[in-house]
Order: sequence, then structure tokens, then C-alpha cells
Amino acid sequence: MASIITVSGLTKTYASGFQALKGVDLEIEEGEIFALLGPNGAGKTTMISIICGNMRASGGSVTVAGHDIVKSYRASRSAIGLVPQELHTDAFERVIDTVRFSRGLFGKPRNDAYVEKVLRDLSLWDKRNNKMLELSGGMKRRVMIAKALSHEPRVLFLDEPTAGVDVELRRDMWKLIGELRATGVTIILTTHYIEEAEEMADRVGVIDKGELILVEEKATLMKKLGRKTLTVSLGEPLHALPAELGEWNLSLNGDGCEIEYVFDTQASRTGVSSLLRRLGDLGIGYKDLNTQQSSLEDIFVSLVHQEKAA
Ligand SMILES: Nc1ncnc2c1ncn2[C@@H]1O[C@H](COP(=O)(O)OP(=O)(O)O)[C@@H](O)[C@H]1O
Ligand SMILES: [Mg+2]
Repeated sequence: MASIITVSGLTKTYASGFQALKGVDLEIEEGEIFALLGPNGAGKTTMISIICGNMRASGGSVTVAGHDIVKSYRASRSAIGLVPQELHTDAFERVIDTVRFSRGLFGKPRNDAYVEKVLRDLSLWDKRNNKMLELSGGMKRRVMIAKALSHEPRVLFLDEPTAGVDVELRRDMWKLIGELRATGVTIILTTHYIEEAEEMADRVGVIDKGELILVEEKATLMKKLGRKTLTVSLGEPLHALPAELGEWNLSLNGDGCEIEYVFDTQASRTGVSSLLRRLGDLGIGYKDLNTQQSSLEDIFVSLVHQEKAA
């Protein structure tokens, strides 16, 4: 598939001397959903700001739809829609006006049919005459997307589209992004939630401390990252792990009140049900079970170790 964005040797050193991007190379394919996954401070917003022309790079180059972002700023920028991390809107403006206005900023002629389609796609058509202050948080987010799509961009950037929103709204947003991709727009989203990358992306790039550690098909990456920790809260504390539990890689924590088991969610046998059966056979009662995805932090540590070992 053809690349729609090419990033080569991109660096950014802020005036403070802090190096936020350390030579990033990346190709985005037309029509894909690409998730840029990384912890806070990794350089995600910096990278997006440069690609969108809101900030200058210190070195390297970027082309969007074949246009160099510096030499052909207007052409490259008009191929991009950006939903920034911080939402800002005029509280008293009507939905349809703010979307039309955004389109006008790109010098596009008024096109009521297109604006209607965007508002309908985002389930905002019924709210088109409402003022922004009358909308819920989820609707405001959708208006930001409508504004970003107003000038018919080929690429849509969503910078942390669900940071700080509740679970329900996050699911709505994921569904919406999935539907947008069906319109043919290429989508690049940044996130620090593994679940979000897992749910949405065709490909994932992991960024940490200004370096793109890896770029991979989602399925391949999830295989590498698919580790979970099962915590079994025991009814009665154990002094030591019985030898009969030796075939699982367990640790005894919390003064003997918790057994922890780290397992691979992608394995054909995770070992979870056999472990629980064995606990039953041994008469070890438990009062609660809890599983937790390995945190991004853990994963970075293991990825970075793999890189060094390789
Ligand atoms: N204007 C700035 N001046 C100096 N440092 C900055 C500036 N903006 C961001 N940074 C630093 O650059 C790093 C990357 O920031 P950012 O791109 O916002 O990360 P992310 O979006 O991944 O959370 C952070 O350590 C941040 O503190
Ligand atoms: Mg950011």
C-alpha cells in the first residue's frame, strides 16, 4: 500500500535543550489506523505538532500526501485534520457554524452537503443548532472531530482522544473511529492506553523518550505484550508455596495472603484454570481473583531489554 506520510530522521530539541525526538523514521500507509503508543512525555504530541506544522523540527523531514511540510506547508496542512489533546471551543457558537468556520479556514468553498454528511456520521445532525455549551462532553469531542474533518482531509490525527474520559465514552469513541476509517480517511491516534491500541489499530508504533522503539502489526505486537498477572487472594495465609504448585511460576506476596501468577494471554493454555483446579485439590481456598494487564512501564522495560539483548 502507498505511504501517505513519510517521516525521516525527525529530531526536536526544545529551547531548554531537552531533546524530545531523537531521529524518528516512520511510514504511514494510506487507509490504515496507526496508534502511536507511549507513556506521558514520550514525545507523541511533539511529533504530531511537527507533522501538522504547528511546531518546527530541529532536523529531519516529513512529507504528507507527497508534500514537504516546510516547503509546501499549505498543501501538506490541508491534507490533515487535527483533533488536539486539549479541547477548546467557543461556548456560544452553534455546532454547524463552528464546523463551517473550520472549513472556511482552509479556504474551502461552503459545502452544506458535505458538512451535513460529517455531522450525520458523527451523530451530531440533531444538535447542529445547539450552542457548544449545551452539549455533553462526549458530543463536544465529536464536534472537535467534525471540525477536523470539515475540509475533507485525507489524514486525521487524534491526540489522546480518550485521555481522562470514562469507560463508556471511550467505547463510543472507539466505535466512532472504526466507522470513520470506513470513509477512507487515514487515522493516526496517540495513546498511552494499551487497550486503545489493541482495540483500534492496524499497526502500532511504540515511542519512549523520543525514540520509536518498534513499529509492528498490532497482532504481532499484542503477542509480545500479552502478559497478565493473576492475583489470587487467599482465604487463609500460606507460610510457603506447596511443592504441588511447582509447575506454575508463582510468587507468594502480601504476608502469604496472595499468590501471583504471570501468564501469557496468547498461549493456547494459559495455565489459569489448571492452577485454580490444583488449588481446589489442595484445599487452598480463595476469596477473590483479579487479573491485570502488564503495565506499559513493565512492557517498555521488557522491550528495551529485548532490544539490548538482540
Ligand atoms: N515547549 C517545551 N519546552 C521544553 N520541553 C517540552 C516542551 N513541550 C514538551 N516538552 C517536553 O518534551 C517531552 C515530550 O512531550 P510531549 O511530546 O508532550 O509528550 P507526550 O505527548 O508523549 O506526552 C516531555 O518531556 C515534555 O516535558
Ligand atoms: Mg501528548
